[in-house]
Amino acid sequence: TEQKQALFTIFGATGDLAKRKLYPSLFRLFKKGELADNFAVIGTARRQWTDSFYHEVVLDSIKDLMHSKTEAENFASHFYYQSHDVNDAEHYVNLKNLGERLKAQYKTAGNQVFFLAMAPQFFGVIAEHLKSENILTGEGFERIVIEKPFGNSYATAKTLNDSLSKVFTEEQIFRIDHYLGKEMIQSVSAVRFANPIFESLWNNRHIDNVQITFAEFIGVEERGGYYETSGALKDMIQNHVLQVLSLIAMEKPEKFDEAHIVKEKVKALKAMRQYSSQEALENFIRGQYIAGKFDGENYLGYREEDSVAPDSRTETFAAGKFLIDNERWAGVPFYVRSGKRMTEKGTRINIVFKKEAENLFADNCDDQPVQNVLTIYIQPTEGFSLSVNGKAAGQGFHLEPLRLSFRHDSEFLGNSPEAYEKLFLDVLNGDGTNFSHWEEAARAWELIDVIREAWDGDTSDMPTYTARSMGPQAAFDLLKKDGNEWAWQPDLWYKERG
Ligand code: BG6
Repeated sequence: TEQKQALFTIFGATGDLAKRKLYPSLFRLFKKGELADNFAVIGTARRQWTDSFYHEVVLDSIKDLMHSKTEAENFASHFYYQSHDVNDAEHYVNLKNLGERLKAQYKTAGNQVFFLAMAPQFFGVIAEHLKSENILTGEGFERIVIEKPFGNSYATAKTLNDSLSKVFTEEQIFRIDHYLGKEMIQSVSAVRFANPIFESLWNNRHIDNVQITFAEFIGVEERGGYYETSGALKDMIQNHVLQVLSLIAMEKPEKFDEAHIVKEKVKALKAMRQYSSQEALENFIRGQYIAGKFDGENYLGYREEDSVAPDSRTETFAAGKFLIDNERWAGVPFYVRSGKRMTEKGTRINIVFKKEAENLFADNCDDQPVQNVLTIYIQPTEGFSLSVNGKAAGQGFHLEPLRLSFRHDSEFLGNSPEAYEKLFLDVLNGDGTNFSHWEEAARAWELIDVIREAWDGDTSDMPTYTARSMGPQAAFDLLKKDGNEWAWQPDLWYKERG
């Protein structure tokens, strides 16, 4: 590997995200030699920290990854702290001066990456000051990386995007959707386009329905404050789920590169049916978890969690049916669901194929052939399975459901780069394939806004589900109405692995 040259400026350097994800990912790149001598990091936030305190924080955040103390200390020595008030122009002068010094000291070739690990209301003001205070010099590449949420509705996302676009071009903006950095999400395209047996069946003649589940075992944890302003629809469906859906639904791109893939994803999102308010209520349902007991453990209800209003109407579960009005997908429901405090953590895609119109074996036995289901396991297990029918061994003729399955082994899982690490390297390489683009985010908000507004206008009792269940009954009824059901099987692999 050729080492990368860059000065990173992290806004929100004292925050949880920086400690949990950013520093460890940079360290992984350091251990692989992607980052070596020619990089420096300026951490900035409101708090007054010294460089040496900052080093301790960085070292603490990577303690599980370090082999040797020298290596870790060498890494941390590239970090500098500058306390900063994002609204105060003068502080940007300090940032600029420090940046100039580090650029020369570490020979970073003028390349700069700005990482905004803070609330989106500050994105605009930071971008403006980077420009007005001449921190952007155009010397090397200059890229800005931002975290979700990218707005709170189409209108707010547009305002945010307009303010960023005054300073940065779309090519310079990297909107993180960390699911796009996950190994198995990236594998969706391999499964589709490297396997003619699947690609030839990837349409409404052969696929009955598609099911996307993002189940979380955890509750809202310490994030009640943020979550109260969001909810499952905006927190998960607007971004992660629709991103995955568009990868499954898109047409084959002319080339496997950023421009062509994004073009196809946007086309798929635009072909998705825009519901009326009434249709939104018919096709989407929500729920909030209430206290429950599972495996001898008691779980609080959402309204009892920290920083959550006792009469909160924030949904912790959302499920719905999307339709895509194009030739490939007309008539194929895309069912999605995502929730907190469900029975297990499991992100999975089920491609449910159509039944054979006639059962050849009807006269031979009573067994109904199972529907073929291709399952892509995103996490925690990573792998695939395909359910097929076979003959039960022995005398006579009986059908037996079988599963062909593959899972990545623990060696792979241990060595596989973490999502953020991959995404960081993509930023350094200037590859935005696995990031969300404005047109994708904009369309996703259009689809979500109408559901959100329909729900906000519905004042009936908030539907609930018991903590550690698979969501409210309505989520099952949604599929039943169409004569379908969730093809969910407990993750036995994961249980075995422990
Ligand atoms: C985040 C959401 O984007 O994704 C969280 O804000 C959620 O609410 C998280 O818990 C899930 O990500 P992962 O990688 O743990 O599945």
